[in-house]
Amino acid sequence: MIIKTIRTSTVKITPFKDQKPGTSGLRKTVKQFQALDYFPAFIQSIFNSLPTLRNSTLILGGDGRYFNREAIQIILRMASANRVGKIILGQSGILSTPATSNLITLHKALGGIILSASHNAGGPLGDFGVKFNTSNGGPAPEKLTEEIFRISSNLREYKITNIHPIPLDKLGEYQLGDMEIEIIDPVKDYAELMAKIFNFEKISSLLKSDNFSMCFDAMHAVTGPYAHTILEEQLGAPKGSVIRGQPLPNFGGGHPDPNLAHAKQLVEMMYREENAPNFGAASDGDGDRNMIMGDYFFVTPSDSLAILAANAHLIPAYRDGIKGVARSMPTSEAVDKVAEKMGINCFETPTGWKFFSNLLDSNKISICGEESFGTGSNHVNEKDGLWAVLFWLNILAERKESVENIVRQHWAEYGRNYYTRHDYEQIPFKSAEALFENLRENLKLLPHKQFKEHTVVTADDFTYEDPIDKSISENQGIRIIFDDGSRIIFRLSGTGTEGATLRVYIEKYVTELDQFEMETQEALETLIQTAEFIADIKGYTGRTKPTVIT
Ligand code: G1P
Ligand code: ZN
Repeated sequence: MIIKTIRTSTVKITPFKDQKPGTSGLRKTVKQFQALDYFPAFIQSIFNSLPTLRNSTLILGGDGRYFNREAIQIILRMASANRVGKIILGQSGILSTPATSNLITLHKALGGIILSASHNAGGPLGDFGVKFNTSNGGPAPEKLTEEIFRISSNLREYKITNIHPIPLDKLGEYQLGDMEIEIIDPVKDYAELMAKIFNFEKISSLLKSDNFSMCFDAMHAVTGPYAHTILEEQLGAPKGSVIRGQPLPNFGGGHPDPNLAHAKQLVEMMYREENAPNFGAASDGDGDRNMIMGDYFFVTPSDSLAILAANAHLIPAYRDGIKGVARSMPTSEAVDKVAEKMGINCFETPTGWKFFSNLLDSNKISICGEESFGTGSNHVNEKDGLWAVLFWLNILAERKESVENIVRQHWAEYGRNYYTRHDYEQIPFKSAEALFENLRENLKLLPHKQFKEHTVVTADDFTYEDPIDKSISENQGIRIIFDDGSRIIFRLSGTGTEGATLRVYIEKYVTELDQFEMETQEALETLIQTAEFIADIKGYTGRTKPTVIT
């Protein structure tokens, strides 16, 4: 269908000074994004940062949250005014982050715009976000996000075409002035990619067997359509194996964050005394995170990463071995132990997926992940929730053991890394800054100090040098390492929208079988107290306990 553009106008604006992308794109409240010219200004800044935008192809979609549809209409009108050649758009404005990444490379696109605030709550009072991924499918590197920020801080106008809204729900092609729009099935190409990576036949016979049941919680977010198609239709899991599968603008009122606190329905089911499913999983708003559970059992994301790496030889795509692995600095060192045994490299990067991109592109790593429920591989340049779920199902289909047994055998072989993250949310910025200033000032004094049974060996502020492009990223988290390898890490979240969020990561490594049976918070108790003491969390924030423990 040809849609005639009525006219292109240039809208004059006063520059916005607060459009600095965080760990993963620009994330603000819906209300902020709805403010006059705010959203178009950021989109224009992305466009202006791309010298080869003219006649290029862009992929576009989002997690279906409130403001997704309006935002897409605005982007289409602006793309046409900015002379983009073609937009490939997910039907109904839906595309998961990993599916977008796949489409970018598949269509050799210049990049992709993903509309999502990931695991943050949605709805008119919730959050919205914009992420830009580059032609390698990966999140924009810091260099580019800084450039976008610089442009937006000085942006005085944007271009937009004036047309009626494009129907988003029907597959098809449109011509908008000189620009083509193709509305595609958001699931098809992604499902084909998964079928190439995993042994679908084996997984299918597991899912169809009477001795196995699973539950996947899509949290009313983007993975619903993907999970219904792949798990139920293609692999034959009984209908109802996917719950909360319909994407809703407010995620059904929930927080689309796949963890023990927010995936309540799934967690209750998995901790049922009787008839709990054998396997449980959930994914977040935009489909890049995953939580893995067994019958009465929770797998920490750091352990999950290590277990995927250790079992990669069971998966067709990784059968010939994996090149190397990487984890973000605060992620537990469980995967390091696997890499050591395999004789492959293990890279430690700052928090945020963008830091894995160069390593993936240059083939230095095959599998990587973060403690924040994110794992992925060189199949796309993003973390990928459903990929992790299928990876686990493929392992279960091959090993024919329970999730719990697989994890316990892993600990027996490699040792166990007890791990927890304590988040203190909505702290006034000033208090958070003062807390970090104090921590930084005292870093030099910490080595050799003893706290209960632990003595500090090193204490620093993590600086990363990218092994490929040699770029330096400073202030990536305060790291305190003890004589037995235990670690405490402090950093501030880069994805929140209200006040500051202090994240405290605590880890302890044990190797003896009789040390594996403790409850996590108990096993880490003295380190937790030490962390609270060293940072004087109560003194600076007034908080006596964290808001969320994962
Ligand atoms: C959080 C996670 C981080 C992840 C990011 C995007 O960022 O901690 O690992 O990459 O979300 O999903 P943070 O809020 O800690 O900056
Ligand atoms: Zn996400």
